[in-house]
Amino acid sequence: MKVVITRKLPGDAEQMIRNASHDVWIHEDDCVIPRDLLLSKVQDADALITLLTDKVDTDLLKNAPNLKIVANYAVGFDNIDVKACCEHDVICTNTPDVLTEATADLTWALMMSCARRIVEGHKMTEKGQYKGWSPSLLIGQDLWEATLGIFGAGRIGRAVAKRAKGFNMKILYTDAFPWEEGENELNARRVDFDDLLAESDFLSLHAPLLESTKKIMNYAAFKKMKKNSILINAARGGLVDEADLYRALVEGEILGAGLDVYDPEPPEKNNPLLSMDQVVLAPHTGSASVNSRNGMAHLAAQNVINVLQGIDPLTPIKV
Ligand code: GLV
Ligand code: GLV
Repeated sequence: MKVVITRKLPGDAEQMIRNASHDVWIHEDDCVIPRDLLLSKVQDADALITLLTDKVDTDLLKNAPNLKIVANYAVGFDNIDVKACCEHDVICTNTPDVLTEATADLTWALMMSCARRIVEGHKMTEKGQYKGWSPSLLIGQDLWEATLGIFGAGRIGRAVAKRAKGFNMKILYTDAFPWEEGENELNARRVDFDDLLAESDFLSLHAPLLESTKKIMNYAAFKKMKKNSILINAARGGLVDEADLYRALVEGEILGAGLDVYDPEPPEKNNPLLSMDQVVLAPHTGSASVNSRNGMAHLAAQNVINVLQGIDPLTPIKV
């Protein structure tokens, strides 16, 4: 059978699929596959491995009569119209678990960089502007015993919260469901969204992008936050209204932000958030560790192999 992979992946994914006697076509250029090329390549594809930058919609599905599986190389799947896939009898899978710890690490890297102004300090030192120790140089925020708010206590949100134990942080979370282990072992407390906003020193977003979470961080939300609080977003750019975030930072409604994701992505050059000292930027590298990316590739490939063999995939997306 024919498997289309929209971009070169790390690890052994391609070999695994070839070893299972399938034909593989890979988009070899290291850029997002042009839409026209994708649409032409799926015409006789039985399986498709997509990235979060590839849109899977009714148009694509109509063009792909043999398609049995879309295996997303990501845990988030807002790039896929899962309902339309279901209607076309196409199974969808994602890559949970294998990237949880790496993404939690990156979340912490942003949190610590913002709190202790690491990027500002780096730039200053690099430019030779560090002229000697000063009592007032780059004073930041404490992580120790601060309050960490987790918006979305899924796998990644929980992994972020677990790391907070070493910093003696108070953990608050907002989720549709209680997190018993967190409540028992970390004293995490489930609160409503307004209390999460009002009480968090660090607010970290870990919810999927849905109609109900779109731009949940808007000006009204920022107004409810502490003036010295820091927003971290390593989930999806669409959760944050970027114009409102900029306004909230300029007006001093919050102190800083650490962003791994943007809307649109990449951010436009003239996005004013890009040139603010109190904003730390990462280029959507949450899952970018060797183990995590290899694990994602392996899992996506195994999902494809399973479905083409007529057995259940390991990590189906349920509608
Ligand atoms: C990355 O953003 C992912 O969803 O895996
Ligand atoms: C989301 O699916 C997560 O892993 O937190």
